[in-house]
Amino acid sequence: MRIDVLTLFTEMFESPLSYSILGRARERGIVDVVLSNIRDFAKDSYKKVDDKPYGGGPGMVMMPGPVFDCFEHVQKQADEKGRVILLTPQGRRFDESLAEEFSRAKRLILIAGRYEGFDERIRIGLDAEQVSIGDYVISGGELAAMVIIDAVVRLLPEALGDEDSAAEESFSQGLLEYPQYTRPEEFQGMKVPDILLSGNHAKIAEWRKQQSLERTKKQRPDLINGNQ
Ligand code: ADE
Repeated sequence: MRIDVLTLFTEMFESPLSYSILGRARERGIVDVVLSNIRDFAKDSYKKVDDKPYGGGPGMVMMPGPVFDCFEHVQKQADEKGRVILLTPQGRRFDESLAEEFSRAKRLILIAGRYEGFDERIRIGLDAEQVSIGDYVISGGELAAMVIIDAVVRLLPEALGDEDSAAEESFSQGLLEYPQYTRPEEFQGMKVPDILLSGNHAKIAEWRKQQSLERTKKQRPDLINGNQ
């Protein structure tokens, strides 16, 4: 899979993309993340990429020209057209099912903005989907793009090592994950539930399913109602 990121802050991505599952997936060629700086496509000597909104109001808006030119430059680097995604709090809410959908694409083109938002003609002209990582505002689309890259890449076949498992994780079955324990058997007076030490795999599976259900009912009843 190829993931292009168009941003004003390419350096923000280096560290999160270099560790753990993401770092390994890139090293092994499972995903190719290509960072492009929108500012390189600014037209004037000040490298201006934003301007005041028409009609007045606070803040600055990302200008269409540099984003379009950056996009055109990037898009022709691969045959696949790709899904074009604009990170914005106005977008469709990102969740595990959208992550699964994205993980089936050959190419994603993520556009991260700063300032008060994008000139509307960017969305229209690039025919971009708008995606939000949640109902809150962060200072720019970069962290949102990183969240999406992480959630998508770990779903790619071969991205997870033997020791990792996506199939049993929270949300993969529409439920939260069951409680996990490791050594020691007793910690500060708290014991590992006997069932997990019993060696009875059928009973353990049943207990985990029950725990998942109870946890979901208590913490996230919307997930159960939403599934009906
Ligand atoms: N940019 C600012 N806030 C955002 C959010 N919640 N999701 C995606 N992009 C954003």
